[in-house]
Amino acid sequence: MARSPRPLIIAPSLLSADFARLGAEVAAIEAAGADWLHLDIMDGHFVPNITFGPALIRALRPHCGLPFDAHLMIAPADPYIAAFAEAGCDHISIHPEAGPHPHRSLQLIRSLGKKPGIVLNPGTPVAMVENLLDLTDLIMVMTVNPGFGGQAFLTSQLAKIATLRAMIDASGRDIALQIDGGIAEASARAVIEAGADTLVAGTAVFGAPDYRAAIAGLRAAGQWRV
Ligand code: DX5
Ligand code: ZN
Repeated sequence: MARSPRPLIIAPSLLSADFARLGAEVAAIEAAGADWLHLDIMDGHFVPNITFGPALIRALRPHCGLPFDAHLMIAPADPYIAAFAEAGCDHISIHPEAGPHPHRSLQLIRSLGKKPGIVLNPGTPVAMVENLLDLTDLIMVMTVNPGFGGQAFLTSQLAKIATLRAMIDASGRDIALQIDGGIAEASARAVIEAGADTLVAGTAVFGAPDYRAAIAGLRAAGQWRV
C-alpha cells in the first residue's frame, strides 16, 4: 500500500481534556510534543452533542503556540467561519453535509487566509471530494460517527483511506490525509499503512496519564515508514 510523503502529524483532540483547566491543558499538550491542537466544534444539531465555540478558542490562543485545527460539526457552517478564523484557527474543516455549497465554504475559508479541509463521515463516499481537491489542504476521514470521543475505530474505513491516498497522489497536490476517531497505537499503525499522515487522538492522549508518552507511542506507530 502507498504511504504518505508528508511527515506524521499528531493532533490531540481537546474534547478529551479536563474542561475545568483548559488553558493549562493546551499548554501541557504543546510541551508534550503535539504537532497540532484539534478542536471539535459541535452544535447539538448536526451532531448529537454540544461543545464550544469561537470565544473559547480565542481565550485559549495565547496559551498554546500550536496550529489550531478546527473540525466544524455544525450546520450551517458558513455564517460562523469568519468567527473561527478571527478566533485563531489555522485549519478549518467542514462536513459537506453541513450545507448545500461545500465548494463555497472552502472558498470562504481560503479567502480568510486559512487552510480549508473537508471531512468524510463513515457513510460519505470519496467521490464527494473529487471536484474539491483544488480548494482543499486537508481531507479528514471519520473512523467513528462524529459527536463523541471514546468510540470504537471502524476498520471498514481503511479501504477509503487507501483510495484517498491514491487520489491525492494522482492529483500531485500537497493535501494532508487526516484520520479522526478511535485512534490508538494499533489503529494508528493501520491507518498509516493505508496512507494517512495526520492523526487526531482524543482519548488516547488527553485520556492518558502521561501525554508525552502517549504522543510518542502514536508517533512510534509511524516509525516503520520508509
Ligand atoms: C468525534 C471527534 C473526534 C474525537 C475523537 O466527533 O471528531 O475528534 O474527539 O476522540 P477519540 O480519539 O477518543 O475517538
Ligand atoms: Zn474531530
